[in-house]
Amino acid sequence: MLGPPGGGKGTQAKILSERLGIPQISTGDILREAVREGTELGKIAKKYMDEGKLVPDDIIVGIIKERLSQPDAKNGFILDGFPRTVAQAEAFDDMLKGIGESLKAVIFIDVPKEELVRRLTGRRTCSGCGRMYHVEFSPPKEEGVCDHCGKPLYQRDDDKEETIVKRLETYEAQTLPLVDYYKKKGFLVEIEGVGSIEDINRKIREAIGV
Ligand code: AP5
Repeated sequence: MLGPPGGGKGTQAKILSERLGIPQISTGDILREAVREGTELGKIAKKYMDEGKLVPDDIIVGIIKERLSQPDAKNGFILDGFPRTVAQAEAFDDMLKGIGESLKAVIFIDVPKEELVRRLTGRRTCSGCGRMYHVEFSPPKEEGVCDHCGKPLYQRDDDKEETIVKRLETYEAQTLPLVDYYKKKGFLVEIEGVGSIEDINRKIREAIGV
């Protein structure tokens, strides 16, 4: 899943993962867990994440290599937030070659900037199951509590307005070039990311035939 911060990558990846029975692998979630646990990786990553910058490529590529070697990734996986630079995409091409696999599609969810800021400032995430809510667009039945598992919802540290602006700049400079990279390779599936979550999910499933 490729797209801007707040574009709906996590929301759509979670729905597809449940439908297809394959894991959603989110580098952002892996890094946030490391930050919560206070590991060495977490300490390094936090500095970059709080500034809206990308964590260095070698660290991210190492995380993905390790994660893809786990048994639940044997029958496929949905990558959410990786690759995010051309260097990561090239390293990923090599990884896939090494295991004799190929990409099925790169789903690029495009959303206008002003909509992204509204989505990110209102986002709430479940501390238990990771389900995503929005105070205005998809609120939980009971404020601050997950409908699905009953655990409390929290607001991400990097969803402050000044960090959001920086994340959007980072996205434009370092991640947007991947649109051309994957277009040239014939993998890009462009999805207009404005509309209801269900409609966007239907468009994605139609486009990739699942
Ligand atoms: P990461 O966690 O990947 O954040 P991101 O890319 O900025 O994306 P988000 O998770 O903010 O947004 P999303 O597209 O998943 O949208 P969502 O579904 O939540 O990365 C965080 C940080 O980690 C990075 O800044 C970087 O430092 C580091 N990092 C991660 N991966 C890295 C990598 N590969 N290389 C280097 N560094 C890396 O939706 C947002 C909100 O909108 C939610 O509230 C949702 O309910 C709502 N919403 C969703 N769809 C709709 C809709 N259709 N209509 C209305 N609201 C909607």
